[in-house]
Amino acid sequence: MSNYVKIFDTTLRDGEQSPGATMTSAEKLEVARSLAKLGVDVIEAGFPAASPDDLEAVRRIAEEVGNPSRGDSELKVPTIAGLARATKGDIDKAWEAVKGARNPRIHLFLATSEIHMKYKLNMDREQVLERVSQMVKYASAKCGDIEFSPEDAGRSDPEFLYVVLEEAIKSGATTLNIPDTVGYTTPEEFGAMIAGIMKNVKGVENVTISVHTHDDLGLATANALAGIQAGARQAEVTINGIGGRAGNTSLEEVVMALRTRNSVYQLETGIDATQISRISKLVSNYTGMVVQPNKAIVGANAFAHEAGIHQDGMLKHNQTYEIMRPEDVGVNQSRLVLGKHSGRHALRARLAEMGHMLDEAELDKAFARFKELADRKKVITDLDLEAIIADEFYRPRDVFALDGLQVACGTMGLPTATIRLRGPDGKIHTHACIGTGPVDATYKAIDSIVKTPATLLEFNIHAITEGIDALGEVTVRVQSKAGSQTMDAQKEVAYSRVYGGHGADSDIIVASAKAYLAALNKLIVAQMESDKSPHSDLGVMLVG
Ligand code: KIV
Ligand code: ZN
Repeated sequence: MSNYVKIFDTTLRDGEQSPGATMTSAEKLEVARSLAKLGVDVIEAGFPAASPDDLEAVRRIAEEVGNPSRGDSELKVPTIAGLARATKGDIDKAWEAVKGARNPRIHLFLATSEIHMKYKLNMDREQVLERVSQMVKYASAKCGDIEFSPEDAGRSDPEFLYVVLEEAIKSGATTLNIPDTVGYTTPEEFGAMIAGIMKNVKGVENVTISVHTHDDLGLATANALAGIQAGARQAEVTINGIGGRAGNTSLEEVVMALRTRNSVYQLETGIDATQISRISKLVSNYTGMVVQPNKAIVGANAFAHEAGIHQDGMLKHNQTYEIMRPEDVGVNQSRLVLGKHSGRHALRARLAEMGHMLDEAELDKAFARFKELADRKKVITDLDLEAIIADEFYRPRDVFALDGLQVACGTMGLPTATIRLRGPDGKIHTHACIGTGPVDATYKAIDSIVKTPATLLEFNIHAITEGIDALGEVTVRVQSKAGSQTMDAQKEVAYSRVYGGHGADSDIIVASAKAYLAALNKLIVAQMESDKSPHSDLGVMLVG
């Protein structure tokens, strides 16, 4: 058996389906490029039948990231997968979306647990078996790489599962993915389930067995590793473990467990672990989903040693308390890189080392931001540079852009914010508001201009680096307040979704304004895209 474990990333599908993790098409493309750079084997780019926007986003990723002749030829070429229910309509859409990739894959699923078959599908065992056979054949007539998932396998009868999997192999499936859809199993059970499949399913030696686990009981990584030990050679994971409810198995945990405990697993992946920290931040910024500080591998405290006894040990020998080095996953917290007198050249070189290849115009913008920050802050670290790059280039399309902000606050008067925004018509709009504090006043002033009723669900602020002169980073999550009673289904999805935004600046009120605008811009773009009516253009949004 091979000692290579394929990494199948589903951040853009299972991850993006979680509340608030919505990304724009441009953001999805950027994440897909970063996943290719990270070295994943398969990118599940979306669920094309969900909406025309989803299909289009998967199609672009297939053509630009999954096809080296059209995209960036320096990147590893991952397989691009599209998810489909076991219906001809879904399979047709998935194929339409992925066929432009060099290595396309259709991933179809149908539930096999009694509870799903009875209450969700209203089908009996024979009907499920028949549908699997027909739809896997239908899909494999179009595409040579077919993955089949028996949904809720974790709670399915193993004997029935073997029969279904055998049928899927006979019908043309090349990967069999075993999902613990509701995060119910324990590592012992899940490992035994994979071992049972390896032993009892005829033809299993000709296909790849995959594990797909969820974290409802905090066991996702343990379950995935147990499945891998029992013979699975593909792991389905997401960056930062994002996903519905408690999330999916996190890529960084599986990859670093296999690598750090190589003596136990003796397995390898194709992942360049030094990219992990960068992509973790990218996904967190785009989704507005903050990574908990104590999250394994990518949390802000994952490599922080504050207890005196630990620090003493670390100074004597870093392996006393550290099983991985921060630089192994691309964390360079303490590296002092550039200062006020560093030039364009040095900035370009450092950004290139960090994986950001900028063209001249982009470098001009980054250099201007760098100089502005260097005037206020003595030492600029990699983390500051990452924040500048994220703020400058990974922002959603600007419908409204911040043009100026002035705030008065403190104990001597009413907190007041005056905001100047450049609108989609190119005109400048100015408004002033009072609020309970400077952020409240700023957000009210933005609302008065943007006029897209939204609820602020979450506001997070933290300093990127240490020290009083640190850059502040703000992430927010907002949801539209617009009613949805008379809307069609697609429009309702766009209106009810939660959108995240990110902003960084040495002035935390400016960072807050940027984050709020980024989230509102996403919400406006999604609403515009879903709104087919001719009067829903941007001009109308600006009335008043
Ligand atoms: O959790 C699950 O069952 C899934 C399938 C579609 C693979 O995400
Ligand atoms: Zn899942």
